[in-house]
Amino acid sequence: MADNLFDKLLEDTIALYQVKFGDKPQIIVRAPGRVNLIGEHTDYNGGYVFPMAIERYTVIAASPNQDGVAKIYSDATKELATFQLDANAQPAAKVRWSSYVQGAISCSIEKGAHTSGFNAVINSNVPLGGGLSSSASLEVAVATLMEKLSGVKWNPTDKPLLCQKAEHVYAKMACGIMDQFISALGQKDCAMLLDCRSQEPKMIPMTDPAVSVLIANSNVKHSLTGSEYPERRASCEEAAKRLGKTLLREVTMEELLAAKDKLVDEKNGDRLFRRARHAVGEDVRTLKMAEALVAQDWKTVGEQMYASHDSLRDDYEVSCPEIDVLVEIAREIGMQGGVIGSRITGGGFGGCTVSLVFTDKVEQIAKIYSQKYREKTGIAATIFSTRPAQGACVLQG
Ligand code: GLA
Repeated sequence: MADNLFDKLLEDTIALYQVKFGDKPQIIVRAPGRVNLIGEHTDYNGGYVFPMAIERYTVIAASPNQDGVAKIYSDATKELATFQLDANAQPAAKVRWSSYVQGAISCSIEKGAHTSGFNAVINSNVPLGGGLSSSASLEVAVATLMEKLSGVKWNPTDKPLLCQKAEHVYAKMACGIMDQFISALGQKDCAMLLDCRSQEPKMIPMTDPAVSVLIANSNVKHSLTGSEYPERRASCEEAAKRLGKTLLREVTMEELLAAKDKLVDEKNGDRLFRRARHAVGEDVRTLKMAEALVAQDWKTVGEQMYASHDSLRDDYEVSCPEIDVLVEIAREIGMQGGVIGSRITGGGFGGCTVSLVFTDKVEQIAKIYSQKYREKTGIAATIFSTRPAQGACVLQG
């Protein structure tokens, strides 16, 4: 099913390239979106995350030109735009789809990826703005193309880091490193346990066919890049500072509880304390879940996922009613009905839930999710299952 989806995307993209540029593309690259199994809002605290790449991709068909510019047609915006091949291209005042592309081009050039120019068509089946890292997959796909066209030799972490910079500077979103790392370095049939302080990924096999990953898109989107995300980030930095540390990663739960009064004041109440309790607790849960997954201890896996969700809802306050409804439906179905665990995934304020489910019940569960979610919210969810996919790669050229 997922392969058919990608084949169709690829076919459409090549056909579109021929329509727009009149010949066949020489190069095809792709980069996946991601779902985070656990470890949310921990990356910018130097903590642990546990994402996997999904079988939804941004694909680019391209050929070199000698024009000194990139001419790129986007199926998402239906626009043909020209991009400067300049390491210091001026970021646009208003962030648009093209900001991610210009950012990835400019930051790739800054990292030594020089080209004489190229024509390209970009297409994607990662749901846009659905919390599955459509933007990271776009940046990483563009950087993968720049790497291929220029022949530059990057270290494994160069690409995700330059894409993160592109997002900071050109899309004005102060994200952590999770999305770009998993899109660039994901491996088929593995989740990635990433220590965001040392930036060292450890691949954890997820090959058991009896267990599937089910993604439910609530199809609601509240604000993220606006003020909420930077506010959470700033709260964590402030909490770490008050505890005499650089990052919350360096604080244990015992230390946090013992120093609670440093994080409670009249202005903020216990808000800073709760933010920190989420970040510190989430690191513990992430390591526990990764270990339990390897041991196939599904009870512990599920407990960590639900505890993560509760913490994101109550302490970190990044969930929303629609997502809470989806997680409650999962809880009601329970292990007996085939749901191991479920939680909000990604930055929050809408987007998707991720559930681990027993494969023999996956269709039944998807049906219940969709029926009950519609009954309770009046909204149609989009639900699909996926296996852990391969990170960015060159498919042709
Ligand atoms: C967004 C950011 C990531 C990470 C998550 C929350 O996806 O891009 O860096 O902070 O939110 O875990």
